[in-house]
Amino acid sequence: MEPSEEKQKKLEKLVALVNRSEISSIKSIVSGIVRIINDPKASIWDLKEMVEVDPPLTAKVLKVANSVYYYPPKKIGEIRQALIWIGFDTLKEMALSQKVSEIFNENDSAEGYSIRFLWKHCVAVALITKMIYRREFKERGANAYVAGLLHDIGIIVESQFLQNDFSQVLSIAKNEKKNLSEAEQEVFGLHHADIGMAIAENWNLPQEIAGAIGYHDNPLEAEQDYSKLASTLYVAEYCSQNSSIGYSETPFQNNEIYQQCLAELNMDPHALDLIVEDAMRELNEMEDQGLF
Ligand SMILES: [Fe+2]
Ligand SMILES: [Fe+2]
Repeated sequence: MEPSEEKQKKLEKLVALVNRSEISSIKSIVSGIVRIINDPKASIWDLKEMVEVDPPLTAKVLKVANSVYYYPPKKIGEIRQALIWIGFDTLKEMALSQKVSEIFNENDSAEGYSIRFLWKHCVAVALITKMIYRREFKERGANAYVAGLLHDIGIIVESQFLQNDFSQVLSIAKNEKKNLSEAEQEVFGLHHADIGMAIAENWNLPQEIAGAIGYHDNPLEAEQDYSKLASTLYVAEYCSQNSSIGYSETPFQNNEIYQQCLAELNMDPHALDLIVEDAMRELNEMEDQGLF
């Protein structure tokens, strides 16, 4: 079998496992919210309907809406009220983060790896990516937040379905001081980014999201349709690592690739300081809201 054919087979097998597992429980809400985000004609009522068909999600969203952070004048008991009090954009992101957080299950940990830290890392990358789009590119970056939240979904898959191999990957990364992708290549012959991309494609998420997830470790090789988002993810990943929001993967980002991404995105690295500061503040607020 050709190496690429073999890789394809492995990916198909993993995607099939994912689709029969708890992980796929986020599929319909995530693709639904992504559709709303990308549809200029979508209204807040589409979002309301989508969240309301998921009672545990509704309960979580209402809990956050009633938290000290949002401080409503009286108790919010319905999604409709939450929408009015918190706003469409915030509620979209809140519902997405609450839903995606369900697959980062606390019981799932291995030596040198914590799913809790991985989740915090994904939220940090999502926030920084979104802020770069808004402030630096003056674009809404509809897919930026969701791509950040999901970029490392392949790691969860490895930790759940390839447990022994995954432990080996972690020990190679740690003992031989290799980055996660190199260790994955040695052990699985594929990367968590490949797995993430295969899942995003199988779930029919926009190609921009799937491609950016697939190339978040090697953005300079990404196709034009998603190279901007992939490079921004890389920059966000680099920043989150510098702020120590990561786990075993992060100390090995490549400074050369980072510099090239900045040049390609036409970004001044100093602009990032404020973005990271604000993202970290938001992350702490989310922590107060009970997201981690
Ligand atoms: Fe990654
Ligand atoms: Fe990451």
